[in-house]
Order: sequence, then structure tokens, then C-alpha cells
Amino acid sequence: MYRINDCYQKLPGSYLFSTIARKVAAFTEANPDKPVIRMGIGDVTQPLTDPVIKALHKAVDEMADGATFRGYAPDLGYAFLRDAIAEHDFRERGCAIEPDEIFVSDGAKCDSGNIQELFSTDNKIAVCDPVYPVYVDSNVMAGRAGTYDKETGCWSDVIYMPCTEENGFIADLPKERPDIIYLCFPNNPTGAAITKDQLQNWVDYANKNGCVIIFDAAYEAYISEENIPHSIYECAGAKTCAIEIRSFSKNAGFTGVRLGYTVIPKALKCGDVSLHDMWARRHGTKYNGAPYIIQRAGEACYTEEGRASIRGLVDYYMENARMIYGSLKDMGYTVYGGVNSPYIWLKTPDHMSSWEFFDYLLEKANVVGTPGSGFGPSGEGYFRLTAFGTHDNSKAALERMAKL
Ligand SMILES: Cc1ncc(COP(=O)(O)O)c(C=O)c1O
Repeated sequence: MYRINDCYQKLPGSYLFSTIARKVAAFTEANPDKPVIRMGIGDVTQPLTDPVIKALHKAVDEMADGATFRGYAPDLGYAFLRDAIAEHDFRERGCAIEPDEIFVSDGAKCDSGNIQELFSTDNKIAVCDPVYPVYVDSNVMAGRAGTYDKETGCWSDVIYMPCTEENGFIADLPKERPDIIYLCFPNNPTGAAITKDQLQNWVDYANKNGCVIIFDAAYEAYISEENIPHSIYECAGAKTCAIEIRSFSKNAGFTGVRLGYTVIPKALKCGDVSLHDMWARRHGTKYNGAPYIIQRAGEACYTEEGRASIRGLVDYYMENARMIYGSLKDMGYTVYGGVNSPYIWLKTPDHMSSWEFFDYLLEKANVVGTPGSGFGPSGEGYFRLTAFGTHDNSKAALERMAKL
């Protein structure tokens, strides 16, 4: 008789967003006359931009012609896209990343979930708390997290690094030395951004202590302030300790299109083993490349016209972020994030728990957000709203909240 990977059995309950979806579905079924405004999941609402749509159409036409048809894409990505990424996302920012250090994929979720495969199961991971759940859950599935304590909401073998009001939602260096450190900046869910000096501390710590940093920069496009690094490779020494993961979902609206990439510098080695070679081997074995059509759409994000168009998308959402942040403050909420990030992180009023506030907001204002405790124990007492809605919906949600 075959046996399953029982690590899956250890995962508590269902994934955060499935629980929210279930609650919202039950509410709408019971209250069909009360339209719900969703500000929970980090999905975009604005259509793809013109340059991207044109590139998609052109690539589709190429597929209809035997002379230009493409089959399997190169495992690691087409050169036209890797060159554009290296030039615009890295070299223009002074980061010496080569196109062949970039691995194109179908998104940052897969990469951030799969990257742990490169490491021994007895490695210890450290995560910010609260955290994007994929980092922890993928390590649970791999058998790297130990046992779950229902009381504390923590895994025995995971190092949690609390991100609180006191430390400005930037984790302190851990007391216990981890092997693998997950960092996400600008942060989901808190919306906090890390300064270059703060990130340099992490890079120095990792190099000194033999740790690898997995840096998720999915929200890089939302950085609006100076002195906030767009890439970890802006920090000296990052190429020997850091992997960076990026996405086209939040900047270009590709959540349903699917495109992302991971950077593994050739200088990143464990002893004399190259992590770059390991990931290339992994891609070669398990991945047949992001679709040609989609990679052409990704390339279109880097032309002058394409860059201006996706800047417009980010500006659109950031206008919401400013409105949500400002209105909530006016209503008397304690609010964070929203400046270098599309996420607004608010303190629940009257000492309500995160889930109590979720239910209250759903029932009284018919607005859906995400309970902070779903991202980790330090998220308790907080609530995440996203700026990814339409202007009209964001405004309407705030009007409803103002009436509570
Ligand atoms: C921190 C973080 N990383 C990655 C992702 C997923 O990105 P993608 O759509 O490229 O899979 C998300 C999506 O919400 C995210 O918040």
C-alpha cells in the first residue's frame, strides 16, 4: 500500500484565503441583497495595458504561422525577456545581474514555494511574523517545520521574527541562527518597506553566519520613497547570500496571465556547490518554460511605452492606497503601510481579534479584508486591506466603514 507525505496532514485547517472565500460565500448566500466589496485577496482589478495586449496579439499571430510558430520555450526563459529584465530591473539600478542568472517562471508563488527544494530538510527557516503563508506552508509540506502548536499558532522548528509596531514592522536579527531567511519587502501583509541600511544588515548577517536569504520583491514597483532598495542586490555582498524572487502580477496586472522570475547569482554557493546550477537542473527536470506568448507580454513591460503604461497601473492602485490610508486615519484607526505598498495594515478597534473584526466588517459594512492573524501570531489584532480594487469600490467601502 502506498503511503502519503504525512507532512500535508500537519497543515492546520485550510489555506487562509479558502477560509475567507468560504465565509464570504456563506454570507452572500444568506444575504443576496447585500453586495460585498472585496478588499481581501491581493488580486488586481485593472485590465492589462495596451502595449501588453498588442504584444499578446502579435505573439498569438506568430503561433498561427508555421514560419514563426514556437514549441517548448527554453527552460530558463527566452533571451529577449531575460535581457530586458537584466537591463531594466537590475543594471539600471547598479546591480550587476547577468541575463543567465535569471530564471523565468510562471509566477512568484510557485518559485517561493518551490525554492526550498534546494535545501536540506534539516535546515532551519526563519520567517517574519506576520508572513506571506506560502513560505511556511511549503516548508511544512517538505517536512522542515516540525510540529504545529494550536495554542501559539507556531511550528516548533520555525524561527519567527516578530514584526510589530515597536520595531516598525521590520524584524530584528534573530537570536537563534537560522539557515534560510525569508524576507519580503515591501512587505505583504504589513506594507512596511526596508531601508537600504537595514537590508544591508541582513545581508552582512547572512554572509557572516552562512545563511541564505530568499528575498521576495513582488511589490518592488510600489516603492515611492528614496533610500528603499528595489532589489537586494543593491546591497554589497548580496550575490553571495541572496536569491531574489519577482513577479509581473502586481506591477503589470499579470495575476491571471502568470509570469515571474527568480534570480540566483552564480556567486551563490554552498561550499563549492552552485545554487544556480541546482536551480537550473531543477527547472530542466520539472519545468518546461513559461509560454512564449506570455514572455512576449512580459518583454512589452520593458519598452518605454510599456513601462509608462504599467507605471499608470501602479499609480492607479497607489491613489487608492492614499485614499484608504487617509480616510481610515480620519476615522480614528491606527494605520500602517500604503506608502511603498498596496497594502494597508490597520489595528483592529476596541481590542477586537482579527477574525472578530473580519466578521464585524463583513456583516455590518459588507466589506471583506484579511485578518492579520491569518499571517501569523504577531498579526493578531491587525487587519489587511488592499488597494487593488477599483476607485469606486474602494471609495464605497470607505463610505460604508465611516458609517460604522
Ligand atoms: C509576497 C508575495 N509573493 C508572491 C506572490 C505571488 O505572486 P505571483 O502572482 O507571481 O505568483 C504574492 C501574491 O499575493 C505575494 O504577496
